[in-house]
Amino acid sequence: MSPSRPRATKAVIPAAGLGTRFLPATKATPKEMLPVVDKPAIQYVVEEAVAAGLRDVLMVTGRNKRALEDHFDRAHELELLLAERGDEDRLARVRASSELCAMHYVRQGDPLGLGHAVLCARAHVGDNAFAVLLGDDLMDERDPLLSRMLDVQQQYGGSVVALMEVDPAHIHQYGCAAVNLTDEDDLVRIVDLVEKPKAEEAPSNLAVIGRYVLAPQIFDVLAETRADGRGEIQLTDALRQLAATGSGGPVHGVLFRGRRYDTGDRSDYLRTIVKLACERDDLGPDFSSWLLEYVEKELAPRLRGA
Ligand code: UTP
Repeated sequence: MSPSRPRATKAVIPAAGLGTRFLPATKATPKEMLPVVDKPAIQYVVEEAVAAGLRDVLMVTGRNKRALEDHFDRAHELELLLAERGDEDRLARVRASSELCAMHYVRQGDPLGLGHAVLCARAHVGDNAFAVLLGDDLMDERDPLLSRMLDVQQQYGGSVVALMEVDPAHIHQYGCAAVNLTDEDDLVRIVDLVEKPKAEEAPSNLAVIGRYVLAPQIFDVLAETRADGRGEIQLTDALRQLAATGSGGPVHGVLFRGRRYDTGDRSDYLRTIVKLACERDDLGPDFSSWLLEYVEKELAPRLRGA
C-alpha cells in the first residue's frame, strides 16, 4: 500500500432527488427520510459512512431539506421531555443521530441529476478523493463494502465504483460496466460504462450500485458534462469519461456480494422492512410469528387459488 496517499475522509450523500416513485409520500418529505423499521433510511447510510471512518459528511439536499437537517440536529424539547420521563433508552436513540459525525449541508437548487448533485459538493470536498453514498441505497452493515473501496482507492489512486452482479434481464435498470479482470477476486478495472443498456447490448451483468470513491478530477469532468435527454447530468457519463481518458487515474470496480437494499424502489423498500424487522431482537420474534401465520393462513391459500 502506498504510504504517501492519504485515505479519503469526506463523504457526500446526495439526497435531493424528487423521489417520484414514492409519491405522494415524498410530496413534502424526502424519500431518504422514509422509515426502515424505526430509523430513516438516510441514518443507516450516515452510520455506514462513519463505520468506514468518514467523519465529515456533506449532505446534498433539495426542496424538502428541513426534515433531513432536523433529524441530524439536537431536538432539545423532545430530549428534555424524555429525560423528565426517565426514558433513557429512547433518549439515547434520539440523541444518537445528532452525535454521529460532523454534518454539513449544501443545497442543490434544481434536481438536475446525480452528477449535478455531486458537483454541488465541489467547494466542500476540495482537491481530495471523497466517497459518495446514495441516500436511498442501503448496504447491510454485516457486509462491509465502503472500507474495501477506500482501501482500493488509497492503494491505486483514481476512482472506485461499487459493482454487483445482477440478472441480465434487470441490467437495463442500472449503469453497466465493461471490465478487465485483475489478480484480485473482488476487483476489476473499468474500461467503459453504459447507462441503462438493453440486455442484448450490455457489456456485462455488472451493475453500478450506490457507492463510489471519486478522484477530485471528477468535478472538472462533471462541469463539462452535458445534460441527457431528461435534462439530468449523469454521474455515469462523467465516470465513463474518467475511465476513457485516465485523467483522474484508474477507475476500479469492487464487486459487492453482500446484502443490498434499494429503498428508492417500492417493492425493495417493503422487502427491506420485512427482512430487517424479522432480524431485530426486539421486534423480530413477534413480527416473524405474525408473518408466518399470515403467509400460511391468508397469503398461501390466496396464491394457490389464483
Ligand atoms: P434516483 O435516480 O433514485 O432519482 O436518484 P430520484 O429522483 O431521487 O427518485 P425517483 O426515480 O424520482 O423515484 C439516486 C440518488 O441521487 C439523488 C437522489 O436523492 C438519490 O439518493 N439525486 C438524484 C439528487 O441528489 N439530485 C438529483 O438531481 C437526482
